[in-house]
Amino acid sequence: MKIVSSVAAMQRLALKWRRAGTRVALVPTMGYLHDGHLSLVKRARQAVGQAGLVVASIYINPTQFGPKEDLAKYPRDLPRDTQLCQTAGVDVLFTPDNAEMYPGKAEGAYSTFVVEESLAQGMEGASRPTHFCGVTTVVAKLFNLVLPEVAVFGQKDYQQAAVLQRMTEDLNFPIKLIIAPTLRADDGLALSSRNQYLNAEERAQATILFHALEASKLAVKSKPVAAARLKADLQEFLTAAPLARLDYLEFFDPLTLQPVSKVQRGHQMALAVFFGKTRLIDNARL
Ligand code: PAJ
Repeated sequence: MKIVSSVAAMQRLALKWRRAGTRVALVPTMGYLHDGHLSLVKRARQAVGQAGLVVASIYINPTQFGPKEDLAKYPRDLPRDTQLCQTAGVDVLFTPDNAEMYPGKAEGAYSTFVVEESLAQGMEGASRPTHFCGVTTVVAKLFNLVLPEVAVFGQKDYQQAAVLQRMTEDLNFPIKLIIAPTLRADDGLALSSRNQYLNAEERAQATILFHALEASKLAVKSKPVAAARLKADLQEFLTAAPLARLDYLEFFDPLTLQPVSKVQRGHQMALAVFFGKTRLIDNARL
């Protein structure tokens, strides 16, 4: 596995691959890798085959964190991540730093950002107003640096995947996005780098997100239910986890992400819950 940390070297390699007609798949991450990330690497390999190249990026992108968020303490372990990528069959690991990705930003010498104005509005966008601009900007930059034909993202971050799909279409990136299913622990908790912030008690109660999704699937299985009613029932349901503090809970159309007033099978549900300072998100198709 080759490790590349300069933007110039990454782009040179990508242009060389393009001239040679090599197929390239990209898996962007912020590191502290878990099996969910590695499942994306596997999916990327399937997409481009053994003759193709799988590039994983590890970059804790500062522009997608709010001023009071966990940028400084976001977990990192590059030696371990490097080993995991190697074992998972990544061909090139791209690990730029801030000076490479946003040169001169503090001095105003970096000033271009990508904004998606529709799908990024609600849910994560409402709770974290600057978040998606950071995500779309860094992913657009990674697309330009790696020039992949395929990029793989997780359904775990449903709204992120939708925003990035829209950005890809709107800005005419010739890239196919693959959205891969959410990997979960045995008790249902979606794997996330942020799970490691949880203490034992919080970790035990964190399964409430998964159980809330399952309860909602059951509730709308045979007939539609008013969203307000289902929300009230779920708020009650969440009290079973006394450490959980609900941030948002939404039922929406899976394509437009517009909230629905009557919830039925095929609609999407997403929620964000705080355990102390740790914020967890999850979602499911009902
Ligand atoms: P990060 O949270 O590291 O996630 C990287 C990718 O892994 C995302 O596409 C995410 O949806 C996916 N992922 C996370 N948990 C998963 C799980 N349990 N099962 C399957 N896939 C999972 O998302 C980001 O980083 C950043 O916003 C990024 C896109 C890299 C831009 O900075």
